[in-house]
Amino acid sequence: MQRHFPHLIDLDNYPVSSWNDIIDLAIDIKRNKHIYVGACNGKIMATLFYEPSTRTQMSFQSAMLRLGGGIIGFDNPATSSVAKGESIKDTTKIASSYSDIIVMRHFVEGSVKAAALTADCPVVNAGDGGHLHPTQTLTDLLTLKAEKGTLSGLTVGFCGDLKNGRTVHSLLKALSCYDNNKFVLISTNELKVPTYIKDRISASGKEYIEVNSLEEAIPELDVLYMTRIQRERFGSPEEYERQKNVFCLDAQKMRAAKKDMIVLHPLPRVDEITLEVDDDPRALYFKQANYGMYVRMSLILSILNEDISTKPLLVGKEMPDIKCSNPKCITNMENTLKGSFRNHGGILECEFCDERLLME
Ligand code: NCD
Repeated sequence: MQRHFPHLIDLDNYPVSSWNDIIDLAIDIKRNKHIYVGACNGKIMATLFYEPSTRTQMSFQSAMLRLGGGIIGFDNPATSSVAKGESIKDTTKIASSYSDIIVMRHFVEGSVKAAALTADCPVVNAGDGGHLHPTQTLTDLLTLKAEKGTLSGLTVGFCGDLKNGRTVHSLLKALSCYDNNKFVLISTNELKVPTYIKDRISASGKEYIEVNSLEEAIPELDVLYMTRIQRERFGSPEEYERQKNVFCLDAQKMRAAKKDMIVLHPLPRVDEITLEVDDDPRALYFKQANYGMYVRMSLILSILNEDISTKPLLVGKEMPDIKCSNPKCITNMENTLKGSFRNHGGILECEFCDERLLME
């Protein structure tokens, strides 16, 4: 029988009170750094990165090193046994026998959840394809709490690739759990937020509108969350070419924004924010990346101290005969993995990638 670990695959795995505790602890760590030196002495974190990363990987690693722990892992699967064809399941099983916590990024949707099912230690999702990125969301929530003083009553604009941007999906779901937030979703028709996320916003009683002009939306916003067009998630280079450069935040658009609007971006930036905006005091994306390290220190500590109550990873029903209709879902790639589905008002939802099943 497998132990029940406080895995973080989706922020939904933790109650909102735990998100708030993690944010408050991060604020304390940032203020009183000396108290936390050595708090993870003797512990080891494995970072298994199957996809490129700068901030997420380095902030996790520096977080663990600042807490006195050690790090192992890879950021180029070509140099690990993955190159010999080892499954995610086996790699994770072994890494979890060498470490106390695993942080994993993978290009396949639902893959980190699948890994967590076989791990013998807690697993943290550092991004699974175009699906979710819960630790970026903790970073974003900490930034909002520290810089706006609240997580409620905010009008938040999301701009760019809202279809493939996993940071957008996780943050929209999270901000829907706080009172009186409103969302302005700024994208082209092709790159709109997936329906299941919009349903979550509506189910929480929050309002959203979908628009295609950043200029028109900007004066109303308290927060503007810019994102890049996710080139690596497109089916063809032509499709990407059609979508790139549609939205660009520049000094002129910033002039129409509120004096206290803040600009966030999970980074990396490509060309959706001009360099001149960096000098605007409302541009907080570099500060946001620094908050990411503190929130990850807080998360590592909370997980290793088992200060978080978690729900089971799978709550739906195993249905081995039904296939998920998302070709990018892990259940369609690792054939030993059985499909598992939630019943959402008569519609089946994949428990790995959240895809709604197209019934024939
Ligand atoms: C994001 C990611 O990897 O999803 N970056 C990050 O983790 N800070 C955003 C992106 O790649 O566009």
